[in-house]
Amino acid sequence: MSDIKQRIEQLKKELNAVVVAHNYQRPEVQDIADFVGDSLELARKCTEVEAEVIVFCGVHFMAESAAILNPQKTVLLSEGDAGCPMADMMTGAQLREWKAKYPNATVVCYINSTAEVKSESDYCCTSANAVKLTESIPDKDILFVPDKNLAHYVSTKTDKNVILYPGCCPPHDRVTPGQVAQARKNYPDAELVVHPECRPEVVALADAVLSTSQMIRHVKESSNDTFIIGTEQELMYRMKKDNPNKTFYVLSPSLICPNMKKTTINSVVKTMELKRNVVTVPEDIRIKAKRSLDRMLAVV
Ligand code: 13P
Ligand code: SF4
Repeated sequence: MSDIKQRIEQLKKELNAVVVAHNYQRPEVQDIADFVGDSLELARKCTEVEAEVIVFCGVHFMAESAAILNPQKTVLLSEGDAGCPMADMMTGAQLREWKAKYPNATVVCYINSTAEVKSESDYCCTSANAVKLTESIPDKDILFVPDKNLAHYVSTKTDKNVILYPGCCPPHDRVTPGQVAQARKNYPDAELVVHPECRPEVVALADAVLSTSQMIRHVKESSNDTFIIGTEQELMYRMKKDNPNKTFYVLSPSLICPNMKKTTINSVVKTMELKRNVVTVPEDIRIKAKRSLDRMLAVV
């Protein structure tokens, strides 16, 4: 084991810490994590760990969700300024304005949102359970924030009246139907799987629309051996590792999330040594945000 990996193992013991990482993290970071997963799996995992400290390798809203669900634990974000531009596209004040415009709508927020937005929402969801959760809501009118693309996808899969807010994930939103046409031409036998954060016109051309961990399972189980991957390119690290005989191509060069790339193995060591980047949420907001997250975790 390299010196740096040994140091991380030692720090895990000293701090009684567990390291969790999102599927978009650099390979070197995935390799030292105790658990790697999608947003739903990571939120669930954080409620199950016994360690006192959770070191979150991902972006701010993910560590914040872990802190909301586990107030008794210390949550450290691997890189303090790793944020999510989509989460920053809606403030609590903006959500309050939209709620005033649609007073009868039930509010569903994507987990890629701030704690304040979660606290003002009725339900939270991830891309893995957005359709199932929205379907389970008895009301017809759903104000879905902040991702217009995931909201649109949900509107096509349910009979709800889904009201969209104009937020998006820049790397996924930049993928174009022209890039799909080019990829289909280059790899005519490949299966195209995309994330629902892509635009509706891209989603419409895909063979499957899945969250990141759903994609990992799908490519393993599929009888196809070539895939075009329509999400952040690092997802292919795990896919290649799990399926050495299959071939993967990224759909677009735009599919790199600079915030997910901020964390390195060195930043994990520094964060643990200094116990820096502690993520906390004011208690009044935390309690209300936890209600919408608990409802998300209740959907299986
Ligand atoms: P999932 O891993 O939940 O599919 O999320 C994708 C994403 O964009 C996280 O920021
Ligand atoms: Fe945010 Fe998109 Fe990066 Fe996920 S991939 S953290 S949604 S910018």
